[in-house]
Amino acid sequence: MHEHVLSMHDLTADDVTRILDTAESFRKVGTRVIKKVPALRGRTVVNFFLENSTRTRISFELAAKRLSADVINFSASGSSVSKGESLKDTALTLQAMGADAIVIRHSSSGSPLQLTRWVDAHILNAGDGTHEHPTQGLLDLYTMREKLGRLEGLRVAIVGDVLHSRVARSLSFGLVKMGADVTLVGPPTLIPPDAPVWGVHVSYDIDAVLPKLDVCYLLRVQTERQRLEFFPSVREYARFFGLTRRRVELMPQDALIMHPGPMNRGVEIDSDVADLPSAVIEDQVTNGIAIRMALLYLLLGATKEDPG
Ligand code: CP
Repeated sequence: MHEHVLSMHDLTADDVTRILDTAESFRKVGTRVIKKVPALRGRTVVNFFLENSTRTRISFELAAKRLSADVINFSASGSSVSKGESLKDTALTLQAMGADAIVIRHSSSGSPLQLTRWVDAHILNAGDGTHEHPTQGLLDLYTMREKLGRLEGLRVAIVGDVLHSRVARSLSFGLVKMGADVTLVGPPTLIPPDAPVWGVHVSYDIDAVLPKLDVCYLLRVQTERQRLEFFPSVREYARFFGLTRRRVELMPQDALIMHPGPMNRGVEIDSDVADLPSAVIEDQVTNGIAIRMALLYLLLGATKEDPG
């Protein structure tokens, strides 16, 4: 394992398998009445979120608490960041207080890497700008492997606003690494020009792709990151790329529907589609806790003993 978790790009296929296998043990811990193990007793984990989050922030907090670590939650509002304190001074302050790991979400791509140059603590990227969201990618890989029994050879479409999506980057890199067949689908304006270098296919026609899929992974339309008009209207986007009941009928019966959340119901996914049994969106959230426990454990507390 590396010293930090900055990107899926840094991980080998063996690293990914080790993380998913470790998460498997922690998934079992999450089904017990007492969902806690002493693995990180005495260690301090700081959740440093300078951008909004529900799933990632809460699941890192739960993961650290289930490992018995001391947890500090830290955001811009209510801290000296709102008075203009720099990222470097804030990070040095957290280090001076004994942080063993810092989980950071930031709107600027590369902030987690920058943090590694200033502090000795392990850094975990919880989403940096439009760069990467490796823990989301890992929990998605875990969910696909759990539900479909393998990653190699899986046919996965990642649909929507790929250009602005750190999730799409991490997931594409992870899937390609593990031998899956990935197609990015969306309007040409929302597909990154360097997508072919990622080792993926590109399509602008969702109806043609759906019948061949094991997983249809929908992305949120990120209006907050779009500084230009990338499509004429939200209604037109939904008509051409939204997953409707009619489109679900085109998919193989056992294919999964996934979404990282938060969803725009009625835009990239119809509300009734999000509630179908084949939509495993809540399982993704549950698996996120196990993945984050595995990462914290492998970085801060791994011994030869089985964690379960
Ligand atoms: N998937 C994801 O990153 O969700 P949050 O923004 O709620 O953390």
